[in-house]
Amino acid sequence: SLPVANVQALAQTCKDSDQQIPERYIRADANAEDVISMNDSTAAIPTIDLSRLLDPQSSDEETTKLGSACQQWGFFQLINHGVPEDVIRDMRKDIAEFFRLPLETKQTYSQLPNSIEGYGQAFVVSEEQNLDWADMFYLVLRPGESRNMSLWPAHPPSFRNSIDRYSSETARVAGCLFEFMAKGMGVRPESLHERFQDQPQGIRMNYYPPCREADKVVGLSPHTDAAGLTLLLQVNDVPGLQIRRPGDDDGRWLAVGAPPDGAFIVNIGDILEIMSNGKYRSVEHRAVVNPDMERISAAVFHRPCQDAVVGPLPELLGEGGGDARYTSMGYLEFMKRYYSAKLDGRNHLDGL
Ligand code: SIN
Ligand code: FE2
Repeated sequence: SLPVANVQALAQTCKDSDQQIPERYIRADANAEDVISMNDSTAAIPTIDLSRLLDPQSSDEETTKLGSACQQWGFFQLINHGVPEDVIRDMRKDIAEFFRLPLETKQTYSQLPNSIEGYGQAFVVSEEQNLDWADMFYLVLRPGESRNMSLWPAHPPSFRNSIDRYSSETARVAGCLFEFMAKGMGVRPESLHERFQDQPQGIRMNYYPPCREADKVVGLSPHTDAAGLTLLLQVNDVPGLQIRRPGDDDGRWLAVGAPPDGAFIVNIGDILEIMSNGKYRSVEHRAVVNPDMERISAAVFHRPCQDAVVGPLPELLGEGGGDARYTSMGYLEFMKRYYSAKLDGRNHLDGL
């Protein structure tokens, strides 16, 4: 990967000296298409209530709702998820504080060569490639022995503890969701769990500086998530996530509003789409930038274990089911293809 400027510092320089932003950040595709606002109430992503999934009285009804959300949207907001308020509050506060640290301090945690982990930017592979208007900070959270503690920030002082608690809580929520998502697919509740055992987990904290020419840049380029399940937290309540709603023939972007306080935005990744044999949808999304306000978000990714098979669940195939729509392969092989497809600039689900 090639070194890229720190975008937070660049944004500050452009602002202070009234400079144009560099060409490589100007994107023809930025806001060209129509964007539908979620204030248009016909266009809101579904809301799923975890306490209703867990309550025997309402579980079946909510599981059906979850199944439809995964099939029709691939995205939903999750309320009453049971993560203690202080865990979310501390995480938000510490992430925001981290990005406010001086550049030199943040760079103590810089990405190592050819690794996504640490403070920096998403992979950039050519000098011509357009750049996203964002910095990020990626950490492996689980399994515990894979943590690289030298990259876990010592500032602010509570950050490590906040991340650790947040990791446990989100892993628990993801585990619950896997169970009900399997039920929603009509297979054994453990069938997804078995492939996500020990719950490999990573976090990507995103910092999108404000940009005067916000409608000419993209915060995070359109993509689908590879991981099975993503839990997104809006750290500072500035919205910016947009999704392409499946079935919208015009391919318009739908702006996802700020979810209720402390709720997660959950989305299905490619691996879960594959395991569901296409029943659940991995939906393309992107992040846009605000002209006046910084935006901060944090996505936690849940991946299968290394020896898991990435392929349709056998229970969904054969009698009463259907033909496999995806080729099965080992997780490591899948990831290799995912990254080489990214380097070619293709959406890697094509041609699998
Ligand atoms: C994403 O993780 O793809 C979206 C992040 C965001 O909304 O900032
Ligand atoms: Fe994403």
